[in-house]
Amino acid sequence: MAGLKDCRGIPVSIGDQDAVDALEAAHEESLGFYGDPVASIDKVLANHPDFVMGHVFKAAMLTQAMETRIYGVMVSALEAAEALKSKANDRERAHMAGVRAWVEGDFHRAVAFWEEVLFAHPLDLLALQLVHLSDILLGHVSNQRDVVARVFPLWDEGTPGYEWVLGFYSFGLEECRDFSRAEEMGRKAVAIRPKNPYAIHAVAHVLEMQGRQQGGIWWMTSREEDWAHDNFRNHLWWHLSLYHLDLGQIEQVMHIYDDKLCSGDTGIEKYEELDAAALLWRLTLLGVDVGNRWQHLADKWAPSASDTLYAFNDVHAMMAFSADGRSAEIATLLGANDRYVEHANDANTAMLREIGLPFCRALQAFAEGRYGDTVDLLLPIRYSTHRLGGSHAQRDVIAWTLVEAALRARRYDLALGLANERTEAKPTSPQNWRLIAQALDGMGDRDGAKRAASRAASLTMG
Ligand SMILES: [Fe+2]
Repeated sequence: MAGLKDCRGIPVSIGDQDAVDALEAAHEESLGFYGDPVASIDKVLANHPDFVMGHVFKAAMLTQAMETRIYGVMVSALEAAEALKSKANDRERAHMAGVRAWVEGDFHRAVAFWEEVLFAHPLDLLALQLVHLSDILLGHVSNQRDVVARVFPLWDEGTPGYEWVLGFYSFGLEECRDFSRAEEMGRKAVAIRPKNPYAIHAVAHVLEMQGRQQGGIWWMTSREEDWAHDNFRNHLWWHLSLYHLDLGQIEQVMHIYDDKLCSGDTGIEKYEELDAAALLWRLTLLGVDVGNRWQHLADKWAPSASDTLYAFNDVHAMMAFSADGRSAEIATLLGANDRYVEHANDANTAMLREIGLPFCRALQAFAEGRYGDTVDLLLPIRYSTHRLGGSHAQRDVIAWTLVEAALRARRYDLALGLANERTEAKPTSPQNWRLIAQALDGMGDRDGAKRAASRAASLTMG
């Protein structure tokens, strides 16, 4: 086998340069959130059925979908790669082993294989991407940053794909609360390539975490053309809605929901449904009447009630089922997950047992008005919620549900403590000050409540 190298000097077992270039193009689609990387590599594979790395790439891309419906396609792609093992090089075999571990439910071992590839080939952008993204799914916060840090000095502007690496680093640094470096890396990535949704997203997280709502709105709207047409747009609209939500601009939030997050299509990707549920639940916490939107969203989630593939999905399904009072779907989801936790032993089991199921039950209790139960379910897990995966901004819904439940359960001293804690972390958040005002009001401190409410109002003035 002749064997070539890709544009970063990584050995590829195939001897056809066009195929290698086409793989790079498909990978760019994935990194830039445009097109359809799987469809693109399928076209290449139609002409090059022996392209080991093509099959590996396809299977690897599908690992990140976390959806039952793609499982069969992922396994077929892996099996096609494994059938060519004798032609594969060491790097390709290690990639295969990673996907195999993932398919078997051992996500942590999969990451370990991809890490191994990266130690041997620090410029393997696919391995870097897989480790970074998987660590977000798994809630390995430090390694979202460190996997990039370990190879970063070996990359520079002259290495193809450097701007994607900057995007990964930016997000990892942000999740590790190194906001200034995160912003620097993210802005640099966007300066190199404006259409870099992942880096735009990383900076959006920095602005969210630092309570820079007006800056966030400007960051997103001033470059809307660079992200509003890609495959990440749904989540980016969600980020924009969070700034408006904090500022109490409910009309703008509803507009984003109806116009951008609420697809009429029931066959949409799970992540769109996640963002929609995450936003509607926040509106529900605020007591906003969302009309029949929950009903519509619960219909979309209903077919995946018994999925048990990924706890992070399940909690968002539970938001929809609980808010819409879908007792049959709630029973299906909890029953399927209870059985799963009892019998399975994969990485998701731990996430589900520790965080997913308690949060699901807390959501159910909240929707049924059993606010004290919500508090009791969430208090013990509040410092380990990162194990659910996702970002700080996404998981904040757990902390917000807890403080809102404490208020509604009239546990005002607890609510005040939690609201104070949120405000210390993000003092420019009007919503945090509103929570303090509500807690103080409940405790009978009218003057204190008034002061906190004024503080909230002053922060909403742009
Ligand atoms: Fe995000």
